[in-house]
Amino acid sequence: MFMMLQSIQVKVICLPLFLLCVAAQLSVANKAPQYHHLPPLREQAAIQDAWRDERISNIPHILQKYGVDAWLMSQREYAEDTVFWSLKDATQFSARRRTTQLFLANATGSTRSAYSWIDNTPELWSNLREILESQNLATIAVNVDSEVSFSSGMHYGELGQIIEKLGEKWMDSLVSVPMIAVEYIGTMVKDRLPWYRKFQETAWAIISEGFSERVITPGATTTEDVEWWMREKIQQLNYTTWFMPSVSILSGGFPFEASTKPNTIQFGDVLHVDFGVTAMGLNTDTQHLGYVLRPGETEKDIPQGLVDGLKNANRVQDIVVSNMKAGLLGNDILKKSLQDMENEGITGKIYCHPIGDWGHSAGTLFGMTNLQNGVPILGDLPLLDHTYYSIELYAEYFVPERNATMIFPLEEDVYWVDERTGWDWVYGQQKQFHFVKSPASNIFRIQGR
Ligand SMILES: *[C@@H]1O[C@H](CO)[C@@H](O)[C@H](O)[C@H]1NC(C)=O
Ligand SMILES: *[C@@H]1O[C@H](CO)[C@@H](O)[C@H](O)[C@H]1NC(C)=O
Ligand SMILES: *[C@@H]1O[C@H](CO)[C@@H](O)[C@H](O)[C@H]1NC(C)=O
Repeated sequence: MFMMLQSIQVKVICLPLFLLCVAAQLSVANKAPQYHHLPPLREQAAIQDAWRDERISNIPHILQKYGVDAWLMSQREYAEDTVFWSLKDATQFSARRRTTQLFLANATGSTRSAYSWIDNTPELWSNLREILESQNLATIAVNVDSEVSFSSGMHYGELGQIIEKLGEKWMDSLVSVPMIAVEYIGTMVKDRLPWYRKFQETAWAIISEGFSERVITPGATTTEDVEWWMREKIQQLNYTTWFMPSVSILSGGFPFEASTKPNTIQFGDVLHVDFGVTAMGLNTDTQHLGYVLRPGETEKDIPQGLVDGLKNANRVQDIVVSNMKAGLLGNDILKKSLQDMENEGITGKIYCHPIGDWGHSAGTLFGMTNLQNGVPILGDLPLLDHTYYSIELYAEYFVPERNATMIFPLEEDVYWVDERTGWDWVYGQQKQFHFVKSPASNIFRIQGR
């Protein structure tokens, strides 16, 4: 990775040679991730609502796929169904009164395929019954699954109301088909990708700057300082996030178990970050590695064992993505990937999850940190196409320079391209460490030109 400071240096150094300068900047721009600013809120809302309309137009197709005639959601203010957040207008901040939505697989006659009421009178129930009765419905899905959170959003009290107000006639029609909510929430429409790329690049840019001498002064800056710098940076860019950035110094163990925080960052430290941003209803999730150069060192002086360890983790990323075939169960993808790792002599762990509307979004999982033999229930769902996934894992590697086996955790988001290609990186893979250069190592670089 090249950092912001480097592109600034290039600019200053070649300023008089205008043409060369343009060429140099272009080659740097290919590598250095850039910050992307968000459009005005009003524009964001229009973009998000267009995505949402396209998603809603796909609901009849989803219902037909699972052989269900209708999908009913109902909620009161502040007691929303999980799916509400993927159905709402950009200008809705919660459900109001009683908010009830009905979708039909095969709307007949003048009936539409999507209905929405915001009401607090009995008229809501009579309207709903009227539509149900006008259709030839055998099954009505409600989100009452007991395991898949995205398909469990109907509140207990609301279910009671529905049973009471719809009456006995419809009771036997209510079914739980968890894949309906999973597929609705998990499916990413194509127009989201260019924006998702921008958000991903912005996340990389924040990590790049955070893991640089602009933010880190070895011997003074703590891991917690970097975490809070990242939070402030997210705020300055008008993004938000879905979890607290986590920065740690890798010493061999699993970074999330790092006990004594804050840690002061020192020369020669290997840094790890788990970081995500949220914008326009989309979430990212990235884990990268950094290295703190000692005074006088250049990028070439990083211990080779660390470079090789990162390469090993890149290989595991490629293995997992190559095994992602739509229709396979998450547990099968996990098993095959762990087998491929074993065949290549790589040890590590795999714990991948869907991403999009939620940081940990709807869909099957391939492993969890504590479940490497398969994930019950969620691991037994099929992998859906048109989804985004976060490829999260680590590979172990013996680093001779440290006389220790270290773990190399990485995380990067992928998107579904097409049937032939499967999934590909949204922005890229981390193939080089981020470098924190010391003032002395910068001086050395300039003198060494
Ligand atoms: C909807 O209509 C199609 C085509 O007539 C039919 O195959 C299907 O069984 C119907 N119901 C559902 C739930 O898809
Ligand atoms: C953030 O939003 C404020 C208020 O709309 C705006 O003035 C500012 O330019 C935005 N900053 C960025 C980096 O987009
Ligand atoms: C490397 O580590 C091993 C095991 O901890 C230890 O026995 C050995 O002495 C170490 N080698 C060096 C050169 O420090």
